[in-house]
Amino acid sequence: ELGKHETYMEKEIFEQPEAIRNALRGRVVIEEGMVKFGGLNMTEEEIRRISRIVITACGTSWHAALIGKYLIERFGEIPVEVDYASEFRYRNPILKEGDLVIVISQSGETADTLEALREAKRKGVRVLGLTNVVGSTIARESDGGIYLHAGPEIGVASTKAFTNQVVSLILFAIYLGRLKNMSLYEGQRLLKELSLVPEKIQQILEQQDTIKKIAEKYHEAKNFLYLGRGVNYPVALEGALKLKEISYIHAEGYPAAEMKHGPIALIDEFMPVVFIAPRDALYEKVVSNIHEVKARHGKVIAILSDKDDHVLRYVDDALYIPQTMEEFSPLLTVVPLQMMAYHIARIKGLDVDKPRNLAKSVTVE
Ligand code: M6R
Repeated sequence: ELGKHETYMEKEIFEQPEAIRNALRGRVVIEEGMVKFGGLNMTEEEIRRISRIVITACGTSWHAALIGKYLIERFGEIPVEVDYASEFRYRNPILKEGDLVIVISQSGETADTLEALREAKRKGVRVLGLTNVVGSTIARESDGGIYLHAGPEIGVASTKAFTNQVVSLILFAIYLGRLKNMSLYEGQRLLKELSLVPEKIQQILEQQDTIKKIAEKYHEAKNFLYLGRGVNYPVALEGALKLKEISYIHAEGYPAAEMKHGPIALIDEFMPVVFIAPRDALYEKVVSNIHEVKARHGKVIAILSDKDDHVLRYVDDALYIPQTMEEFSPLLTVVPLQMMAYHIARIKGLDVDKPRNLAKSVTVE
């Protein structure tokens, strides 16, 4: 079942282009610049009346939710709040008519997320579930749903489910936008670019040897910092979580601009800092953070857009991603981070598919 791969995690990282194609299949109508979903169970009129969205989830799915906030506010023009499911269910979340709660869960069985769903329903709010496992409890108890179509994910560290969560949120955000102010042309432009993403991920997977060398160089570090901005801030969190989970190296993710408010004190020659710095609106600002780290002798590993040689002489190691739209860049930037965490853990001889103390689905509080 593993085919040419040695572990499920590696197999699942490499399945991402195909998983995304499966999530897009049958849902994208290019001529109309529109997206079709089978199971939302809401009329277009009800969708247009949504005045606020609250997304709730745990772990990696919560990182996808943070990206979803950015996408839905940008394309769908609806305000979004994101909450950890465990926090949501024990607060008094103020929910009103016109609110939609979205729960995101690969397994569809996470106890905290399931209880958050039940709490929202108790308050009379409609719940949309984004799950991977067909017929899971969250899928069954949601009022409507979007299946991730990532295929079975066996490795405890979530990879292809994450990218398909982001794809589903992109599709949903475009769908919301098209029911409101987004033009036909803009819908078409976004969907065409989205259909090119699987091929671009393939190009990143082909950089496996470069990523292995970087893993060799840094696998003895005791701490890592991951920094990104905008839609790539949650990717920094996700990169850090992957490293913690499977390599047991302490890592933290931050919005790059927050570095100067504290974490900068940690930087010395032993601290690798991973910068997610594709060419986007905030690129120059991230570059100035790179200079700040180098001035303190930190080691910089940068995820850059193709052909970016502007900062090359300031960084210690670089990984390249193909150009895409800023909003879709997490689908690309996360891949080298998954691979780097993977190879560091393998070099350390660890069981990446079953890391210590972790279960694939957390069905206890
Ligand atoms: O099945 P879920 O998406 O609800 O799981 C949520 C988290 O437990 C999960 O994402 C966890 O953080 C993963 N091990 C991350 O790799």
